[in-house]
Amino acid sequence: MLHTRIIVAKNAEEAGKLAADVFEAEIQKKPACVIGLATGSTPLPLYRELIAREKAGKIDFSRVRSANLDEYKGLEPTHEQSYRKFMQDNLLDHISIKPENTIVPLGKAEDPDKMCEDYEKKIEEWGGVDLQLLGIGHDGHIGFNEPEDYFPAMTHEVQLTDMTIDANKRFFDSIDDVPRAAFTMGIGTIMAAKKIVMIVTGADKKEILKKTFWGKVDPQVPASILQFHNDVTLICDEEAYPF
Ligand code: F6R
Repeated sequence: MLHTRIIVAKNAEEAGKLAADVFEAEIQKKPACVIGLATGSTPLPLYRELIAREKAGKIDFSRVRSANLDEYKGLEPTHEQSYRKFMQDNLLDHISIKPENTIVPLGKAEDPDKMCEDYEKKIEEWGGVDLQLLGIGHDGHIGFNEPEDYFPAMTHEVQLTDMTIDANKRFFDSIDDVPRAAFTMGIGTIMAAKKIVMIVTGADKKEILKKTFWGKVDPQVPASILQFHNDVTLICDEEAYPF
């Protein structure tokens, strides 16, 4: 809590615009910055706003690099529900970022351990993540880092919890089609980002938001580690704000 900046927006749309301000400022300051991106419903207003701002000439993504948090294990990049496809459809195909400057963990990696190591190396080679975007799961997960007895450090493979599988089934034909495993940046990877913006919207996130920033730091609430990061901006809407 010590360093967390908290902004309460009226609604999810406004939260997206306020987050876009942070991205715009970062890209203006450092045109070749490295941004960490997330999938899910929460970032959609932000992504729409970023696309609009580039069209309006306010942002230039042509030198920006992006690294995504996570990907389902076993899905091809072109699979309808892969996070790579989600990113192409909702942001990357609509801005001037160069395809070779965007990375998402490879769901179909032949050697998963090596893929995870290479993912870390690439981020390191780029000089680290300047600005990381995060959403939060109802169990406090960030990326696919689920409640655990410890904070996993690096990009790694995870088994998804029943809660996450259930939350994500809305995107698949049936719950049986939801992959049971995924690759995700570790908590260490996320904490190494120079700046973090977390967006939390909707009444269903109120309880976990309270635990995350006003509870104890506990690997059973993975996002609670953010209390120890020195540059976090939390942008939530009125429905999610716990007070
Ligand atoms: C997605 C990710 C996840 C989501 C979280 C919330 O890349 O990292 O941790 O941020 O599951 O998802 P939504 O925004 O759909 O509620």
